[in-house]
Amino acid sequence: MGKVHIFDHPLIQHKLSFIRDRRTGTKEFRELMNEVAMLMAYEITRDLPLEEIVVETPVAPARTRVLSGRKIGLIPILRAGLGMVDGMLKILPTAKVGHMGVYRDPETLQPVEYYVKLPSDIAERELIVLDPMLATGGSASHSIAVLKNRGARSIKLMVLIAAPEGIARLQADHPDVDLYVAAVDERLNEHGYIVPGLGDAGDRLFGTK
Ligand code: URA
Repeated sequence: MGKVHIFDHPLIQHKLSFIRDRRTGTKEFRELMNEVAMLMAYEITRDLPLEEIVVETPVAPARTRVLSGRKIGLIPILRAGLGMVDGMLKILPTAKVGHMGVYRDPETLQPVEYYVKLPSDIAERELIVLDPMLATGGSASHSIAVLKNRGARSIKLMVLIAAPEGIARLQADHPDVDLYVAAVDERLNEHGYIVPGLGDAGDRLFGTK
């Protein structure tokens, strides 16, 4: 079963509180989401493998370490996942970015795929799927299945807030995918919103509605 890693770093928790606050406007919401994504990027990359190299300092050769292994690919699920990309790229500036257009049908709550554009070498990359909200888990699970069908072999899912229902769905559908999350909330309401959550992440990010 995929593990759930909860990022309880004080800065992440502090910023998440203001992201949740209904009084936080679009500009600040956007800034905070990118700041939290940047801090989460730092945590999610903790286990990246290193290899030893030798560099010449102005004084002497130094045995030192650099990243080895797979390169990173970021896969934001449109549209709210876009809000996490810039923050991630601050820490991982050479990552490639693929886009996954999936929305949730408001009636059936089922994922509908409308746009997929991915780096050509996703099989060789460590992919981090980005979506601020893991609600039913339908969009994330569907997106991960699309990535696997196109050859992806290593996938992590990074979200701000998860509902227990979404976690159960992810673990059932993709036991090989670990979840990285800032908070696990109580439940979903009858409209599929996470309670207490933060409302509609896409609308709050883009100032729509
Ligand atoms: N998507 C959101 O933006 N918010 C929720 O609470 C659930 C899904």
